[in-house]
Parts: sequence; C-alpha cells; structure tokens
Amino acid sequence: MSKRHSVLVTGAGGEIGTGLIQRLSNENAFDIIGLDLKGLDPELAGLCTSSYTGDVLDTDLVPRLFLDHQIEAVFHLAAMLSSSGERNPERAFDVNVGGTMNLLKNAAEQARYLEANIRFIFPSTIAVYGLPDLSTKKRAAKVRENDFLNPITMYGVNKLSCEHLGYYYTHHYSALSEKRSQWHVDFRALRFPGLISAHTLPSGGTSDYIPEMLYAAVAGKPYTCFARPDTRIPLMTMPDAVESILRIFSAPFESLGRTVYNVGAFAPSAEEVENLLTEVLSGADISYEVNESRQAFLDTWPEDVDDSAAQADWGHAPQHKFKEAFAEYLIPALTGTQTEPTHL
Ligand SMILES: NC(=O)c1ccc[n+]([C@@H]2O[C@H](COP(=O)([O-])OP(=O)(O)OC[C@H]3O[C@@H](n4cnc5c(N)ncnc54)[C@H](O)[C@@H]3O)[C@@H](O)[C@H]2O)c1
Repeated sequence: MSKRHSVLVTGAGGEIGTGLIQRLSNENAFDIIGLDLKGLDPELAGLCTSSYTGDVLDTDLVPRLFLDHQIEAVFHLAAMLSSSGERNPERAFDVNVGGTMNLLKNAAEQARYLEANIRFIFPSTIAVYGLPDLSTKKRAAKVRENDFLNPITMYGVNKLSCEHLGYYYTHHYSALSEKRSQWHVDFRALRFPGLISAHTLPSGGTSDYIPEMLYAAVAGKPYTCFARPDTRIPLMTMPDAVESILRIFSAPFESLGRTVYNVGAFAPSAEEVENLLTEVLSGADISYEVNESRQAFLDTWPEDVDDSAAQADWGHAPQHKFKEAFAEYLIPALTGTQTEPTHL
C-alpha cells in the first residue's frame, strides 16, 4: 500500500479550514493534521488524522508537528482578519507575519529533511491593495496583481509581507549559506476576495456586511449595513474558494508563472445584493448606517480583480457568478430548500 501524504492545515477550525478539511477528507488521499488556537469541534476533528489546539507562533509545537507527522504540504490559513487586526495591530503582526515565518522556516527545514519541495498554500487577500481614491478605484476596475500595492490596514500590510516572504523562501532562501539546498518551499498564494459561505457566518472581516445581510434576510431580521450602498468589492462563494485552493495545490510547479494570483468570481455593489435579496426573500429589510473606518478600508479595495493569470496557469474557473451564488447555492442551502450544498 502506498504511503498517504500528510498535510498540515493551520486555522483548521475557521471558515475556510472547515470547508477545506471536508473536501480533503472526501478525497481520502491525505493524512490531515489540523492546528487551531481553539479546539476543533468533534465532527471536524473526526475528519483529521490528528488535531492540535495550539498557536502557529509556538516554536516547540510547530517543528514537532512537521517531524512527528512527516508533513509534506501546508495549508496555512490561521490569521487575524482585517477588522480584528485593526483592533489589535501588534498581535495581528505577530500572528499574521510571525506565525507565517514560523511555518515557512519549518517548511524549509522539512524540504531539506525529506529531500522534496514542500507546497505551501497561503490565502492572501484583496486587502493588499490600496486604491488612493474612489475615482481611481472606479477607473481601475479589474486590478492586476502588481498594481496599487499600498495597503492601509495592518492585515493588508501583513499579508503583502507574507507574500514577499513566500517568494523569498521559494526562490532565494539560504542563497549565501552552506545550508543551501535544491529542495525548497513551493509557496503559492491566492489573493481572495470577500468569501461567503452558506454554513458559517464570519466575524472580524471587513467584507462581512454581505454575509451579514444575507443571514439576516434569511432569518427575517432587519439589518443595518455598515457600508455605503454603492460599495463594490469582489466576492466568491466558499465552495469556489476551496476548489481554487485545491486547484492551485495540484498544479505542477512548472505551470505557475507567479507565486501570487488574484482570484475573483463576481463583484456586486451592496445595493445590488440588497435588491437581489429583497426580490427573492420576503423577510429582507436592509438599511444603511456607514461605519466610516470600515468604509475607508473598503474604498481602498478594488472593485474587481483581473484573474486571467489564475485562469491561464492553473484553470481557475469559479462555478458561481452573482445570481447563481445566491439563487443556486446560498439561499437554497440557508433556507433548507436544497438538502446538499453544491460542493461541500
Ligand atoms: N474569509 C474571507 O473572506 C477571507 C478572504 C481573504 C483571505 N482570507 C484568509 O483565509 C484564511 C482563513 O480565513 P477564514 O475566513 O477561515 O478565517 P477564520 O477567522 O474563520 O479562521 C481563522 C482561524 O485561525 C485560527 N487562529 C487565529 N490565530 C491563530 C493562531 N495564532 N494560531 C493558530 N490558529 C489561529 C482561529 O482560531 C480561526 O479558527 C486567513 O488567512 C484569511 O486571512 C479569508
């Protein structure tokens, strides 16, 4: 019997971690090692070969996980998100950059030890962008990977730093050291837009107004949106996000022309989401009271992203566009008119 590959999933209990572990477990090809600051719920823990409650900053635990489980790939999802990060920027820096460094360093050592490249999948974000004003945002429309990289949140600054660290560990690490090895970290980052899941209501992100609006409308509760009606950012459903993680993970190294890819799906304004919800759900009752700080972040994020490189290099092809996302996935799953979610 051939040996199964072991993969480490950090932030295992989060929104993406939950969806990813379900998919990886369905494929039954990997030993899944889960790590999260909070204990995993028993059902999710049951899908992992082993799960650990601990910190990605832990310099004893993380190397032990690589060694004990012969980790061959990393999905590094643990992070403090944009709004939470802004409430505690120093802790956000520690977790988001320090935690990533700890993982990259151990992945580099593992590459030398196993004599194999270690794939390292990293969910970055559109918060790495910083459009200077609304007219530039409108004019720029679909932003390309190398443009407008002037983040104004600690979260965006952290994620952009990690993208550079990942590139460094993949292409230049130990260039002047005797420890230089042909085996290296193979870092692959996806710049995700705001993600919406039919199974978990997020907290701590600045794109949360979309899922909050949806969940309130389904529950027949009024919702006061913290963003202006004309706010437009790119969005994607959680099943499409998980699918894109698995696609970039499976792509051969030679096919990747970049280490960091934009991924998009659809990009409605808050008002367009409101109109769709009001059309479909009788309980939708949405009003607006702008939170200036959160709005300022949203105004620096692009209206949409150019993800043509992801399409060409590893076949990014989200299943859900705007109407399909709500009509075929989110609303049916949340109202119980669909028994099985589309991908999970
Ligand atoms: N959800 C989105 O809209 C979105 C968009 C772009 C990028 N991302 C990125 O995707 C990743 C996962 O996002 P998510 O939506 O699942 O977030 P989430 O907040 O639901 O999950 C993050 C998980 O990380 C864990 N965690 C936090 N600090 C930790 C630490 N120090 N050590 C170990 N675990 C820790 C938390 O307990 C949580 O379970 C993050 O890196 C995030 O930046 C998410």
